[in-house]
Amino acid sequence: MSKLCDAAIGPGRVSVTWADGRRADFPFIWLRDNCLCAECRHPANGQRLLDTLDLPDDIAPCRAAVEAGDLAVGWSDGHGSAYGAEWLWDHAPTPEARAARRATPRFWGAGIANDLPRGDWEEISRSPAAERRYLARYREFGFGLIDKVPTRDGMVVEVGNRFGHVRVTNYGAFFDVRSVPDPNNLAYTAVALGVHTDNPYRDPEPGVQLLHCLESDAPGGESILVDGFRAAEDLRRSEPEGFARLARRRQSFRFRDREAELSARTPVIEIDDDGAVMAIHFNNRSAAPLDAPLEEIEPWYRAYRQFARLLRRPENELRLRLAPGQLLMMQNDRALHGREAFDPNLGRRHLQGCYLDKDGIASRLALLSRGAA
Ligand SMILES: [Fe+2]
Ligand SMILES: [Zn+2]
Repeated sequence: MSKLCDAAIGPGRVSVTWADGRRADFPFIWLRDNCLCAECRHPANGQRLLDTLDLPDDIAPCRAAVEAGDLAVGWSDGHGSAYGAEWLWDHAPTPEARAARRATPRFWGAGIANDLPRGDWEEISRSPAAERRYLARYREFGFGLIDKVPTRDGMVVEVGNRFGHVRVTNYGAFFDVRSVPDPNNLAYTAVALGVHTDNPYRDPEPGVQLLHCLESDAPGGESILVDGFRAAEDLRRSEPEGFARLARRRQSFRFRDREAELSARTPVIEIDDDGAVMAIHFNNRSAAPLDAPLEEIEPWYRAYRQFARLLRRPENELRLRLAPGQLLMMQNDRALHGREAFDPNLGRRHLQGCYLDKDGIASRLALLSRGAA
């Protein structure tokens, strides 16, 4: 990290310059509120002790200077603060610093079949380095394939609980995906399933899905994966208005059977406060009637159908046939999944699945990265 070389007080802001020419401005209230001293943050756990409301409205620095490599500030409320060069850049509000803090997803399509983000369960469960490598690739692409997972009943939960915390739902801690009589969900038939994200009728929607293949000798049943983030960016480029419409208007989703009645509303494309795509919610099976003002309905359908067409382009589809012992892990709100029909009279196809939350996986990867797991 480059050193700090200058600090100056301007109107409402402290301007900081690094030796390599970078510059950033920090508003007084932000800087004072983020003081890192032991009075303002608990030294053991780093949690804030300072109540933002206790700061005077007109908080301002009396002095600001570079001292011993840090930005040192003396405040009008009598307090003194010090901020490191690296910490300042890591939190600076400039476009470059903010862009550097953003995870950039790597888009993929059919071609990724030759270079799958992939891990080996025997290795992952033995070596934290192998687990970290696998999870880092999973995070970049929004999915991963794990080989050599023992084909035991409920093993999918064991895998889930290594990476995070399995979320129990009305389907239980895990669920069987196979063809059954009188199914409460089309997943439990042998029909083809168009690509979708799971369970947008839940609030919150599951962030991660694991699917573990136990048996697959039925003809057909190939799995299909599509990068929803890439398709959304394609839509943004080709039809910016349609993109904005899908990001603005929430769609209704619904599920009901004998034991549960679930419904939620969520936009097909979710964008963050800077406009970046952060989640896709797309599920034809559980879509409920769109509840929108009259004049928005037809334009919404045009945008929705255009997005659905992009999702179906062959160059966007990764096709793979899961073999027993393979486990597919998907960021549910990015990697859409589907399958081809299969023939349950000529063989078996049996998967077990479970859901996790995204924060658990992110935490696991962060712990592995700092060598604490
Ligand atoms: Fe599904
Ligand atoms: Zn302080």
